[in-house]
Amino acid sequence: MLIKGKVQAGQSVLIHGASGSVGTAAIQVAKHLGAQVTAVSSTQNRELVKSLGADFFIDYTASDFTGNGIQYDYILDSFGNLNFEKIKNSLCPKGKFIVVSGDLPQLLKSPFLNMIQSKKIIAAPATETLHTLQTITDLFAQKKLVPVIDQVFPMDDIRKAHAYIEKRHRKGNVAITISNRD
Ligand SMILES: NC(=O)c1ccc[n+]([C@@H]2O[C@H](COP(=O)([O-])OP(=O)(O)OC[C@H]3O[C@@H](n4cnc5c(N)ncnc54)[C@H](OP(=O)(O)O)[C@@H]3O)[C@@H](O)[C@H]2O)c1
Repeated sequence: MLIKGKVQAGQSVLIHGASGSVGTAAIQVAKHLGAQVTAVSSTQNRELVKSLGADFFIDYTASDFTGNGIQYDYILDSFGNLNFEKIKNSLCPKGKFIVVSGDLPQLLKSPFLNMIQSKKIIAAPATETLHTLQTITDLFAQKKLVPVIDQVFPMDDIRKAHAYIEKRHRKGNVAITISNRD
């Protein structure tokens, strides 16, 4: 969605939910595109997001970025508790709000809002084009995009894996191992 949103070098990108599965990838992709990245998570994940390239850090439990007066070219919400009304003053005049995890009303409203305002909402599911898949594959091959693995569960513990994910504090990704029983 960052590639779809045409993030350019030197632009500012705030990533809300920066230490999760989507967020840890988004930091690395945004840095690859040359953006200046502000990561938002709790303090326990500050070092993780900084190690992935985040330039600035905000602890959402201590301060609300929507009240700090700073404007960003892009705000990406992977957690899902933001909406356009809440973040619009934190977007630059032609800024874009990337909704990775959003509710249906927000999705339905975005085409209408995009017709009448300069600030845009990108709210559709990420589309895999050959270009974006090739870009991501190249980043993996060059180790510029490294998956962050939090915990690994065997398939037999898939319920525990889901329960862990549903707490919504994973650090990167949860992997499942599948053994060959034959
Ligand atoms: N649109 C698409 O194409 C697409 C594609 C893939 C996924 N998704 C969706 O994207 C979402 C992202 O999932 P995910 O696995 O990356 O992460 P997640 O587990 O849903 O969220 C984890 C992140 O949110 C932070 N967080 C937890 N509580 C928070 C709160 N109250 N306020 C603000 N931040 C909070 C966590 O930080 P701390 O742990 O430091 O608190 C962490 O950075 C899912 O809903 C998924 O369905 C959409």
